[in-house]
Amino acid sequence: MWRVKPLDAILATAQKKSLHRSLGLFQLTLLGIGGIIGTGIFVLTAEAAQKAGPGMLISFVIAGFVCAVAALCYSELASMVPVSGSAYTYSYAVMGEFIAWLVGWALILEYAVAASAVAVGWSGYLVGLLENSIGFVIPTALANGPYAGGILNLPAVLIAAAVTALLVRGTTESATVNAVLVAIKVTALALFVILAMPLMKQENFAPFAPLGTPGIIGAAASIFFAYVGFDAVSTAAEETKNPQRNVPLALIGSLVICTIFYLLVASGAIGAYGAQPLFGPTGEVLPPGSRALADQCASIAAGAQEPLVCSREALAHVLREIGYPSIGNLLGLAAFLALPSVILMMIYGQTRLFFVMSRDGLLPAVLSKVHPKYRTPHVVTMFTGVGVMIAAAFFPVGKLADISNSGTLFAFLAVSVTVLMLRVKDPSRHRPFKTPLVWVVAPIAALGCIVLFWFLPPEAKLVFPIWSAIGLLIYFSYGYRKSHVGRGIVDVPELDPDAPPSQAEAIGAPKK
Ligand code: ALA
Repeated sequence: MWRVKPLDAILATAQKKSLHRSLGLFQLTLLGIGGIIGTGIFVLTAEAAQKAGPGMLISFVIAGFVCAVAALCYSELASMVPVSGSAYTYSYAVMGEFIAWLVGWALILEYAVAASAVAVGWSGYLVGLLENSIGFVIPTALANGPYAGGILNLPAVLIAAAVTALLVRGTTESATVNAVLVAIKVTALALFVILAMPLMKQENFAPFAPLGTPGIIGAAASIFFAYVGFDAVSTAAEETKNPQRNVPLALIGSLVICTIFYLLVASGAIGAYGAQPLFGPTGEVLPPGSRALADQCASIAAGAQEPLVCSREALAHVLREIGYPSIGNLLGLAAFLALPSVILMMIYGQTRLFFVMSRDGLLPAVLSKVHPKYRTPHVVTMFTGVGVMIAAAFFPVGKLADISNSGTLFAFLAVSVTVLMLRVKDPSRHRPFKTPLVWVVAPIAALGCIVLFWFLPPEAKLVFPIWSAIGLLIYFSYGYRKSHVGRGIVDVPELDPDAPPSQAEAIGAPKK
């Protein structure tokens, strides 16, 4: 189970595949921003406020910092091993099949569960937009899961179904569509900042940390979700011009741009409207996404101002309450238009991961079946889509984001350890990009991931080991025996003419 997939075989694959290098720094950075900005800032700002109050500003910085150091480690591996599968593939080459399986299994949480979280976030914006623009109210029972007194979140299920259908048909986002959607998101956030900033009041920042340091780090662990998605850049390494320069610059650049936007937006929301947490009747802390918090929010008298922490469309809500109702609706419209592309990227990433794992023999071959007409891995796409729909139907956005974070943090941890192990095991191998100060940066990244994981809510921390245990059962009953590496089959899946296009091809990098 410690067998590795030889790095040289993986590299030979990548070299032969030889995609046209068409992505420049600008396009690559847009790709990063397109994957990053989503439910995190548009919705989870409310959850972060419930955990940390105005101190969430520090939470944004902490989460952004951990992502930045992890991104530096990603860059080294991505420029060296520019093939699909990201953290899973790197670990397979360095730490062996067992760890790779665990990482791949954790990445399912990163991608599929994140897609569900974004679908639920989108649903919140749709509900608010319909209600505030045309007065159409979707019944509570159909717009919420049982956690908030509903039956299921129908809009979230429908958007996940629509995105899945698009992916089965092979619709992928073109670089132009991505650029337009990024422009929409960035304009919406910029407008928010411009309108909220002049109304900022200093007193809204006090108390700054009502729940202390644990609250701030807890919020960082959750708001980490707002930064996830930058690895889309690393998967496009092979299609990038001058990757040794452009991949790290785009990774760090998109993270820095997003961090600045997030800090400005969060400051605007706190300063103009207030972001203090709600406490229960006996002064107890109410966890975001809990029934207790939903009840407490429901008990707020009609006509009274609804606190930020109760809103499911935080930024639109703030704009409406500070005197810009129609611009609030416009921002809602921007989220309505742009968030589905984040769902698309996440489900897309998931299907390609399943595809690679199935081609390695660790998952059944049926998952890598490619549709004869559409050239898409339709079986695995539908399988993923159904999973995303079920999770989106019944769980709250914050809980899904936290669970997704647990998997992502594990994958980032694996990446930072892999970088160091590879420096020791294979020091002379050509590294187009080298993580600067790797013996400082990688351990900081690893430690940051462990700390953030530790501060996730108990349920998210519990789901992760249970999920991994299920994964191990499957591995030992299936993948361990069927593994192509284990059976001595050296395949070069990337050369398969039937293989579906990679992420970068999908966004416009043609094959040579
Ligand atoms: N970072 C992405 C979002 O916030 C996943 O929606």
